[in-house]
Amino acid sequence: MEFMKLNDRNEIPAIGFGTFLIPADGSTYKAVKTALDLGIRHIDTAVAYFNEQEVSQAVKDSGIEREDIWITSKLWLQDYEYEDAKKAIDLSLKKLDMDYMDLYLLHQPYGKVDEAWKALEEAKEEGKIRSIGVSNMTPKLWNKWVPDFDSIPSVNQVEFNPYIQQKELKEILKPLNVKIQAWGPLGRGNVDLLNDSVILEIAEKYGKNAGQVILRFENQEEVIVFPKSIKPERIKSNMEIFDFKLTDDEMDRIRALDTGKGSHDPDAPGVGEMLMNAFDVHAND
Ligand SMILES: NC(=O)c1ccc[n+]([C@@H]2O[C@H](COP(=O)([O-])OP(=O)(O)OC[C@H]3O[C@@H](n4cnc5c(N)ncnc54)[C@H](OP(=O)(O)O)[C@@H]3O)[C@@H](O)[C@H]2O)c1
Repeated sequence: MEFMKLNDRNEIPAIGFGTFLIPADGSTYKAVKTALDLGIRHIDTAVAYFNEQEVSQAVKDSGIEREDIWITSKLWLQDYEYEDAKKAIDLSLKKLDMDYMDLYLLHQPYGKVDEAWKALEEAKEEGKIRSIGVSNMTPKLWNKWVPDFDSIPSVNQVEFNPYIQQKELKEILKPLNVKIQAWGPLGRGNVDLLNDSVILEIAEKYGKNAGQVILRFENQEEVIVFPKSIKPERIKSNMEIFDFKLTDDEMDRIRALDTGKGSHDPDAPGVGEMLMNAFDVHAND
């Protein structure tokens, strides 16, 4: 398995498994268990995915030692006030039935980000979280919040795929050794991306599929990936990206596909309010 070193010296598996939009009706359990059985050792969940408990059950039933699996979860906007954030971290630990999480993120960069970050820093000090990070921070949002933090996040989880390569953000994060984690690494199933002629031509050369070429590109860009699928054959194929290597020329051809635009613009007016009102993460507590 390949790992990437974070700026806090923890080592995260370079490829994991995403669980957004997989319902907690047994489907998350099944998909995560399949991924673990196939060799995945890194699971990305969130309070707002409402599936932490099924992730936990799959981890337990996998028979794999806790310390051999990297678990990421994320704090939701409703809990950004300091005391709420502290309680929410404990609630994630309870739902996951774990003593610690490997990575915990501020899921969205709105509201009382400073208070929430403080709570994450303290939970890290207390050993409840090994690494802490942020998500959906554009250059503008990063520059708004992070200069006032006491510590630098280890990751920024943002939309990233060949059509949105976050070039400006990368320049900001690189000197700080902050890793980008890709959400939507397969463009969330974007058929244009998965059928892009440049991707397909390269895929044919290596006897790979489009998803594998895209994920390999991201890995060679030193981006951490965790594609989501509920289909066992795709879960397996999405992991098989380390038996070929893209050439510099192929990397450049894929870099040239960047449009600079994704499916979600965190800087758009009203996004924070819209997300805050989207759902109640404590409805079923
Ligand atoms: N921080 C954030 O705000 C944020 C936002 C979104 C996502 N995330 C995290 O990032 C993870 C990955 O992102 P994502 O789930 O949005 O998108 P994604 O992994 O790019 O794409 C998932 C979609 O692609 C399909 N798919 C999977 N493998 C495929 C393949 N090899 N060929 C063709 N289609 C394939 C899946 O369908 P099937 O399931 O039917 O195979 C699903 O519809 C999430 O699960 C979540 O953990 C974080």
